[in-house]
Amino acid sequence: MTSPDFKALRREFPLLSRKTYLNSGSYCALANSVKDAFNQYMEDRLLVGANWDVWVMKNEAVRGSVAQLLHALPDEIAVTASASAGINALASALEFGGERNKVVISDFEFPTNAQIWHAQEKKGAQVVHVPRAADGYIGLEQFDKLIDERTQLVAVTQVCFRNGARLDIAGITRMAHARGAKMLVDTYQAAGGVEIDVKALNVDFAVGGLLKYLLGTAGLGFLYARRELIPALLPTNSGWFAQENITAMDISANRPSPTARRFEAGTPAVVNCYASEAGLKFLLEVGVPAAEARIQQLTRQCMDALEEIGWPAITPRADERRGPTVAIPARDASGLTAKLLARDIVTSYRDNCIRASFHFYNNEDDVGAFIAAMRELRSTDRE
Ligand SMILES: Cc1ncc(COP(=O)(O)O)c(C=O)c1O
Repeated sequence: MTSPDFKALRREFPLLSRKTYLNSGSYCALANSVKDAFNQYMEDRLLVGANWDVWVMKNEAVRGSVAQLLHALPDEIAVTASASAGINALASALEFGGERNKVVISDFEFPTNAQIWHAQEKKGAQVVHVPRAADGYIGLEQFDKLIDERTQLVAVTQVCFRNGARLDIAGITRMAHARGAKMLVDTYQAAGGVEIDVKALNVDFAVGGLLKYLLGTAGLGFLYARRELIPALLPTNSGWFAQENITAMDISANRPSPTARRFEAGTPAVVNCYASEAGLKFLLEVGVPAAEARIQQLTRQCMDALEEIGWPAITPRADERRGPTVAIPARDASGLTAKLLARDIVTSYRDNCIRASFHFYNNEDDVGAFIAAMRELRSTDRE
């Protein structure tokens, strides 16, 4: 396999010639082709009007590309408005009245994957949080203490949005299944920057969104549901686009689609489908394994250099324990982010850390500019 021409690919993101952009964990840089796709939507609206045939195709193109990305079947993918929408649709199909009422989440969750499960307490769910160990990581031994025969679902993030740590999803899934529980993974901070094969991981459900490493836009997400599980799951969060026959317009009953479309709801976010189709196309042409290798190279370089300047990241060092984000502790994370931005270096912050997130379109100069600024700012903010 020949390596992609990363230098040429970088030119497709005009922002990168103006900024050191280390913020893909919040929102990706915009590719020319994605901008063109937004413009195409405008053209279609101006000149064609209601272009429903094309719009349905765009939604299906996103479904097909997400399936390709995850190594799943298109019928196992629901195209949703957000990750939250996918989790809510799934949660609405689960019962928590019986013995298996436990949902195991982790302390690394993005709020939505905790709050929605806590919202199920009204239906009888008991939500438990797997805490981090003394080294700051959440290993299998931590999950071992809380996943049991009363667990219905283990719902965990693949990469933590706060500290960039990557969990052992295959290992957690094996443990969940051995104890009769199902497994949901939140891929949001991983998909596009980490190769994900839902069949190899053997997860039952996966959610994510299009605006970060998938190069698309806000306002679109997905839910993967393993084919064999779909018929028994009847969401009460529903809508006409979740029906077996959308055009039947039948108001006499709820007839859910036999596929993962049953987790969808209303009119698709058409403009977001245009943009996300283009973003996914770009990413899949680069190839996620190639993107992941490039990201690992850059994050490793960044973490090594941070050690050298005496300001180490809290993100785990081992390649298999981290994703595209490097988190660095700071006394005044918001102030530091602002000082970096004043130097045209775009990062973000969560809690008491700044986050530098890398994609394949970053390069060694970005690492160099970031480290030089951090070295300079070290005396103003050091823990
Ligand atoms: C891990 C993770 N999950 C979920 C989300 C967002 O979910 P939603 O699409 O519902 O806004 C994010 C956004 O930053 C995230 O980082």
